[in-house]
Amino acid sequence: MIGKQEVRQKLMANTNAAILGTGRAYPEGILTNADLERMVETSDEWITSRTGIKQRHKASEGEYTSQFAVAAARQAIERARIDPGEVGLIICATVTPDQILPSTGCLIQAELGANRAAAFDIAAACSGFLYGLTLANQLIRSGQTRYALVIGAEILSRYVDYTDRSTCVIFGDGAGAALLGPAEDGRGILATRIYSDGRYAEQLFSPGGGTRIPPTAETLAGGLHYFKMRGNELFKVAVRSMADVSREVLDEAGYQADDVKLFIPHQANQRITDAVAQKLKVDESIVYSNIAMHGNTSSASIPIALDECLEMGKVGEGDLVLLASFGGGVTWGAVLLKW
Ligand code: UT7
Repeated sequence: MIGKQEVRQKLMANTNAAILGTGRAYPEGILTNADLERMVETSDEWITSRTGIKQRHKASEGEYTSQFAVAAARQAIERARIDPGEVGLIICATVTPDQILPSTGCLIQAELGANRAAAFDIAAACSGFLYGLTLANQLIRSGQTRYALVIGAEILSRYVDYTDRSTCVIFGDGAGAALLGPAEDGRGILATRIYSDGRYAEQLFSPGGGTRIPPTAETLAGGLHYFKMRGNELFKVAVRSMADVSREVLDEAGYQADDVKLFIPHQANQRITDAVAQKLKVDESIVYSNIAMHGNTSSASIPIALDECLEMGKVGEGDLVLLASFGGGVTWGAVLLKW
């Protein structure tokens, strides 16, 4: 016999998902450019002019990814005015999980008391949140899930080599979350596109600590667990991929870049953001940037930015919102929403 809930879910099938609530959280600890000047050969002038970053949040000893994910998720659930028990899906996008097993998603689930959800992690680096939105949208559309939580959460500082000036100035810690449910009146997610190209895997990677190079005293001493990045090569691919995939979702939904009211690109580098905006020919007034305050928080960057934009009243009903990302893997994607 089909239960009431199943009937309701079947009726909702083929309805796009909308974001019903968001949240964000990050460690209190802050690492400024002045702090970094004392740690490596760099300068506030170099970091500001090459990246736009002034400070980034950094976790203290004892803090871990799911703590911030749970705090962000609680806000998203509360603002969506649902009960944690109604959440049917938890996707945590992270490349810095609490531990290898179980997934950070399951740890978050237990803390939230969302005991009827399916929970898992996605490792798609900076594109993880958009990968999560894409999957959640499909599961809501199919009627399998009514409410889904998508979280981007990272404690990148655990994998940053604070003697390597080419990476340590960039990355920050934090978490952002979105609670999705069936959309009304043709609003919500209008189009999604996600891609990856593993041929570029070694442009941003952590060589050691997994099954290929298991963690030993030697690999730790050699810093093989730290992120290595060919930033300059990634830069060009990032700009091209984010602009191309943004055009794809706009085309698919029948819109022009001009129609977009808010553009939130992954916060990788202010110069990347500016170059993507220029390629798309969108006015800088609709492009959101918080990189000065947070640095690059990988999968957390877009949901943190979205939550800030909502708090600042930058999004109105019916507004077209474009999200685009690029990250290690390499991975990239875009999501177009009607608010
Ligand atoms: O999150 C998504 C994935 N990541 C990205 O998309 C990152 C994309 N890449 C970037 O954001 C930029 O490439 C960086 C910010 C990482 C680097 O900026 P750049 O303008 O591409 O610099 P570069 O790597 O070409 O280096 C230029 C110079 C080099 O010195 P020489 O060889 O010209 O003497 C570097 O050694 O800048 C030097 N440099 C620094 N100098 C002071 C590199 N890092 C620093 C630093 N402070 N922190």
